[in-house]
Formats: sequence, structure tokens, C-alpha cells
Amino acid sequence: MSHSMLNSMSNYTAITRKVSPAIEKCELTHLVREPISFEVATQQHTAYVECLKSIGCDVVSLEAEADLPDSVFVEDAALVLDEVAVITRPGAVSRQAEVNTIRVALKPYRELIEIEAPATLDGGDIVRIDKTIYLGLSTRSNQAAIDQLAERLRPYNYTVKGIEVKDCLHLKSAVSIVGKDILLLNPAWIDASLFPNMTIIETDPSEDFAANAVLIGEDIIYPEEFPKTAAKLRAHGLKLHTVLATELAKAEGAVTCCSLIIKN
Ligand code: GLY
Repeated sequence: MSHSMLNSMSNYTAITRKVSPAIEKCELTHLVREPISFEVATQQHTAYVECLKSIGCDVVSLEAEADLPDSVFVEDAALVLDEVAVITRPGAVSRQAEVNTIRVALKPYRELIEIEAPATLDGGDIVRIDKTIYLGLSTRSNQAAIDQLAERLRPYNYTVKGIEVKDCLHLKSAVSIVGKDILLLNPAWIDASLFPNMTIIETDPSEDFAANAVLIGEDIIYPEEFPKTAAKLRAHGLKLHTVLATELAKAEGAVTCCSLIIKN
């Protein structure tokens, strides 16, 4: 079925998944483990979903997965493009089964392409600027993923470029798109010169994890806990909707991680 046949009234659909009761057993790479409250994480996630709805998204809310601690971070299981969606193969073995339900959820909206072994790919490692896909070579995503993605997306005229990621979990922890030709970037973690022809807004030096924002049309969902960087974004005339995202941040999750955005 074509996505246009779903008769959505909204311009965007967001796929989300409720927080797993096993969230405390999440994977961690750069953070020290600390207690995570399932209740607080759920409360903040519910507010995030309400924010998606308030800016006009249709929200598909998948049920929580008790055996998949990181499964609230749906972004890592797929890359949704206008023409097609790519089902990933997450780099953490404990996360690989997350794709099974995401595949089912995306099927009504897009033709699907699969990433296969030996490639590993987390959606959080992808920053797309028009027809260029920047892919973070991180602890999760590898060169084989670049090769497969490049080959499978060539018919749709996408180019895939690798960028080394060392100081944070995903490429999108360090840089995200916040407007046409505008990137929000943490210069301590990624070199802005990799993105020529883009306007760069740097995160405030006191706000390490502030480079992750969800852009939906001209609306931006952004964490309340980074007011200095938020002020910079607003000074550029960008339209922010802030949500508190502190609890899932302890699981190395940020705002982009919690949704897959589909243009209808
Ligand atoms: N806990 C988020 C991740 O490691 O993928």
C-alpha cells in the first residue's frame, strides 16, 4: 500500500514506542550508569509524544517491549526517506531484535530496504542533508553499512559519506539539522568544516549534549535543559518546543532517538 493511501490528515506521522520497564538495563557507551526512574522516563516520554501531537503529527505509539531495554529509541532501527525506508541492523547485539516491530510499523508507509551482516548501523548515526547522507563511523555503525547504504540508495540518487565519531555515542549526539541549510553542532565533538555551505549554530560550551534536536517541517522539539543553546536557536528565528528529556538522557537517549518521522 502506498503511504498516500493511508489518508492521513497530517503532513507527518511519528512512530514512537513506550519506555521499556527494563530501561535500567540499557546499553551505555560514554556515560557512567546511574539509576533511571521508569516512572519519570515514562512521564517525560508522554510529554514528548504530546509535543509531537501538538505540532500536528499523527502518532503511532508502539507497545513497550519488556525484553528490549533500549527499544524506546526507535530512531536507531530505521532511516525513513521520502522514497523508501531502510531497516537497520543495530550495532549493539541486545538491540537487534528491535527492528522486527519497526519493520511491521513502517511497512504501510514505505517500500523497505534491509541492512544485512556484516554491516551494523544505528539510525542515530545518520544526518541527512538533502540527497547527502552523513553516516557516523562509531562504536555502532561500520564501513560495511556505508557501502550497503550507498549501493542500495544509489537508485534514489543519494550519496553516503562517512564521518568518524569518537567522543559520543552517535553522530546525531554531535550534530543535527535544525533548518534548511542550518546545523546545530557541538564543536568539541565534530568538525564544522565537514559541512561546507551550511550555517552552523554551535552549542553553548557549558551544554555538552545540546546538539540534538528534532526538526519537523519548521518546528523543532528541543530539550528544556539546554537554555543557553535554546536561546541561540531562537536568536536565529527558529521555532522551538521544549520538553524535559533528562531521564532518558541517562540512558544516552536524546530527543531525535524517540521518534521516526515520516513525511506523508
Ligand atoms: N542506550 C542507548 C544506546 O546505547 O543505544
